[in-house]
Amino acid sequence: MQDLLMLLADGSFHSGSDLGRQLGVSRAAVWKRIQRITQELGISVQSVQGKGYRLAQPLQLLNGDVIRRVFPALPVYMYESLGSTNEQAKQLLSEHSAPMAVLAEHQTQGKGRRGREWVSPFAQNLYLSYVWPITEGLNQIDGLSLVVGLAVSKAIQRLSGIAALLKWPNDVLIDGRKVAGILLELIGDPVELCHVVIGIGVNLNMLDLVDSIDQEWTSLSKEMGAIIDRTLFAQVLIEELDRYLEKQKTYGFASMKAEWLTQHAWQGRNAVLQIGSHSVSGKVVGVADKGELCLLVEGEERKYLGGELSLRLQDDS
Ligand code: BTN
Repeated sequence: MQDLLMLLADGSFHSGSDLGRQLGVSRAAVWKRIQRITQELGISVQSVQGKGYRLAQPLQLLNGDVIRRVFPALPVYMYESLGSTNEQAKQLLSEHSAPMAVLAEHQTQGKGRRGREWVSPFAQNLYLSYVWPITEGLNQIDGLSLVVGLAVSKAIQRLSGIAALLKWPNDVLIDGRKVAGILLELIGDPVELCHVVIGIGVNLNMLDLVDSIDQEWTSLSKEMGAIIDRTLFAQVLIEELDRYLEKQKTYGFASMKAEWLTQHAWQGRNAVLQIGSHSVSGKVVGVADKGELCLLVEGEERKYLGGELSLRLQDDS
């Protein structure tokens, strides 16, 4: 389907016979492929007699060759559509070595934190899983989700000039709305060889078409009023990830804590931390050296850590 999509990507009309000639297939086969594009990828294609087919909205596809050229030493696996790049990365890891990057145009079962779905429409956003080997012991992952947040916000800043903020542990926000999310999964035996699959979803060109997202969201394109070059964004994000992960490996999160705090969305705010079925209310006073959240609860500073914790603002803050 990718070849057909590339021909249609400009949003202009293309006749069935022209498309068939370029793809070396019959007009009937073009029609079948158009139906698959609509059904499997959720892309709307207009069909007008005498003119042919055109996409309801022009598409900008990721260019894997460009990304591979920029990072010759990094294996980059690209897919048109799959369940989840994190799941695919885990499969690839059984046969290939890390680091590696897995990208997709579309996820049918994009995973968010705490069992949520990550809405992943075709060719609009960035869905990346970066597999990072743990070679220096488990200290290497202390504060990792915060460090990845820094890399994402730096990539956003480089590409758009927008200063995104970070919500503990790893949401990236613009004006209080979520623009990116991070899902880390530890794979393997922590005492032997293990890896972290760093899943990153960034809303790039998604507009108002999605109504199934259950939290306030935005996209870079909504914020800037312009279409984002997704290939360039992927490239900048991988560059920043490499840079921040190297720093994490050598010096740890403590060396980036001050930088993280300058972007801390809820510093000084009253918030409620959900820990399984119970919750704690307090004032957010910062983060500690292993990436723990510091909350002032009844005059005492307490530290909290864990991927399944979630934080929301208290109404009265
Ligand atoms: C969150 O809930 O904030 C985390 C969202 C993580 C989404 C990304 S998209 C790429 C990777 N593949 C997935 O299935 N999830 C992550």
